[in-house]
Amino acid sequence: MSASKAQIYLDTNRSISPISPLLFSGFAEHMGRSIYEGIYDPDSPHADERGLRKDVLAALRELNFRAMRYPGGNFLSGYYWLDGVGPKDKRPRRRDLAWQSIETNQFGTDEFMAFARAINTEPMLAVNMGTGTIQDAANLVEYCNAPVGTQYADLRAANGHPEPYGVKYWCVGNEMDGPWQIGHLEAEDYGKKAREAAKMMRWHDPSIKLVLCGSSSSRMPTYPEWDRVVLELAWEQVDYHSLHYYANNHDNDTASYLALSAEFEAFVDTLSGVLRYVKAKNRSKHDVFLSWDEWNVWYKAHFPSDMQGQWTVAPHLIEEVYNLEDALVAAQWMNVFLRKSDVLKIACLAQVVNVIAPILTTRDALLKQSIYYPFLLFSRLASGVALDVAVKAPLYETQKFGTMPLLDVSASWDEEKGAHAIFIVNRSQTESLPVELVWQDRAPARISKAYRVAGTDPKAANSFENPNVVVAVEVAAPVLDGKSASLVVPPLSFTAIEAQLR
Ligand code: AHR
Repeated sequence: MSASKAQIYLDTNRSISPISPLLFSGFAEHMGRSIYEGIYDPDSPHADERGLRKDVLAALRELNFRAMRYPGGNFLSGYYWLDGVGPKDKRPRRRDLAWQSIETNQFGTDEFMAFARAINTEPMLAVNMGTGTIQDAANLVEYCNAPVGTQYADLRAANGHPEPYGVKYWCVGNEMDGPWQIGHLEAEDYGKKAREAAKMMRWHDPSIKLVLCGSSSSRMPTYPEWDRVVLELAWEQVDYHSLHYYANNHDNDTASYLALSAEFEAFVDTLSGVLRYVKAKNRSKHDVFLSWDEWNVWYKAHFPSDMQGQWTVAPHLIEEVYNLEDALVAAQWMNVFLRKSDVLKIACLAQVVNVIAPILTTRDALLKQSIYYPFLLFSRLASGVALDVAVKAPLYETQKFGTMPLLDVSASWDEEKGAHAIFIVNRSQTESLPVELVWQDRAPARISKAYRVAGTDPKAANSFENPNVVVAVEVAAPVLDGKSASLVVPPLSFTAIEAQLR
């Protein structure tokens, strides 16, 4: 590995696309301690009068999730939404077959809507395409979005909510390509069922936006044929096509792990090609965009015992502990979101509390994990348009992706807000790298701040005893010298630079 010097060239004439704010969304599933003991915990000293945890709400508000996908996940495909509305003492306790847990249904659609309002996020509901019928899916849209005067809208009013919720984003099922999914379908069967569900849902409310189930991972044997088939069948009825991916460092090959953005980009590029192919084949004028509605690192807690609840309420399931290298992978993922912002319009961090999440809770305490910080910085600073940055950086060798640049970079430029941000990951495990930022047309008026997540040990992680091992710290902002500025990025680091245009 040779580290000499790097240049990052920025030019506002080379913009990729407006950055969809929904790229900074989240996902909360009825799984483990995500809802119960995470978001909703009436017995916690931190609970408000609704049973929502105030400390969790505060942290989620800080992350500013633009939308929140709910209620699953694999849980969705066995969930009957009517179980979760109405008087709480009448709601059934059920065996949740997806996670082998007990579902009390004390938290359901109305509680979720209150939660979404409390954190100022757009609800993104999902309808069951496993055990659920297309009629159940349509009924839920009526419950949420129709004016009073018919059965399910009146039920909503009877449950205390006379005004329609106006839920705009809807996922038509979850991971229906996966044999593990309750009611898993072949591509043709799912494509037809989703198309028919979508028609009924949109007849209730033509303004809704629908997300079709794409591949659960680029490692699926049916990828990308699944995507082609379901898109050909449901193209005109949907607005987004989903992709899911969970990253891992099973081989403990940190050099390759830190180059994973190559795989993320390839996944988006392939699906983007499928979208173009289907649009042309269907002779359509309609566009469908991508929704990466489950993304995160998940592998340390990935044994059957971590995924089965032994028929208990709120079991500890997949409470992944995140370290520095995971945070650097998460940062690259969001770099990819910006670089692919022309086709990628929604992305949901999976998940948000306790279950593979940036936040862990005990009954009375809350821990911010390493991945919390890159998400916070992107969510706060990335807006406007994404710039097509040109990066000249030293190269290094990886086993899985061949030769890769040491830097992974993205940038945003927001004329309206007068804001500009640059996001830089240094993948080197040993070398500091001097970096020159060069603005080729317009430079910002000033660089106000720089933040960094960094360390020497890729496996370093926060814990309740030691919560500040991997955090974002403010570092000296690079000094602007005409149309350039210099900084040094340490090994194993993520740096976010905040600049103003006026
Ligand atoms: O997020 C955990 C699980 O991962 C979800 O339930 C499922 O959709 C995916 O396989």
